[in-house]
Amino acid sequence: MAGMVTGDREVFVFSDDKQMVKSAVERWLVMASEAIAREGRFTIALSGGKTPVGFYRELACCNQGIAWEKIHIFLADERFVPFDDEASNYRMIKENLLDSVAVPAENIHPISTQETSPDLSAKSYEAHLRDFFKLRLGERPTFYLIMLGIGEDGHTASLFPDTVSWTEKDRLVVAVRSKKLSSERISLSLPVINSAKNIIFLVSGKRKARIIKAILEENNESVPAALVRPKQGTTMFLLDADAGRDISPQDKRFSL
Ligand code: 6PG
Repeated sequence: MAGMVTGDREVFVFSDDKQMVKSAVERWLVMASEAIAREGRFTIALSGGKTPVGFYRELACCNQGIAWEKIHIFLADERFVPFDDEASNYRMIKENLLDSVAVPAENIHPISTQETSPDLSAKSYEAHLRDFFKLRLGERPTFYLIMLGIGEDGHTASLFPDTVSWTEKDRLVVAVRSKKLSSERISLSLPVINSAKNIIFLVSGKRKARIIKAILEENNESVPAALVRPKQGTTMFLLDADAGRDISPQDKRFSL
């Protein structure tokens, strides 16, 4: 594994996906106990996609000693489909993680998709966040950890480059529409993501190598994932060797 620091970003490249998952679980466990010691709870938002499936399964296996009653699980984004739909992020996270751990039902905070439109789902999740985090007007929730993936086009959560979703400044949760997507989406907004204490990007596969290089080495700021940089928090990129293959360790902006 190679570790590099880029400004306030930490980048770790692992020999394979398995090592990446192992490290993500270790970091998750450390953050959980740190958050519970400091704040009495661990608030996390999880993403969909294929990459985190192995992580959720591994976490489901090694969950002894975790104070699940103090862990609150939110979603970073969701498809506007019923929970039993193949494309539902909640379904995927439930089947791979939640069904296997002792997290109380009231600590699970899915994005409801029973509303009549994604806009109403977004409003309802925003109201839920305001209530849970006891936010006053203008305040944003501070998740202890948000776990994200990256698409080849530089999207993260469901903030896609060809939509206005990632330019949102005020709302906490946004509805997302794009002709390229098979379903409408609901996503935490960029300001909420950037209010987190910790961000972990999990990225694997050679198809992601180009966008990873663009974000980390070419200062590409034209895609949503590149703008994830919490001012008060840490941003960690956990990459497998394929996703990290184009990053140059010799690059002066990285120090080993
Ligand atoms: C989702 C996501 C999305 C995902 C990326 C990467 O619900 O699909 O939250 O942002 O993380 O598209 O997806 P893969 O892991 O499948 O490459």
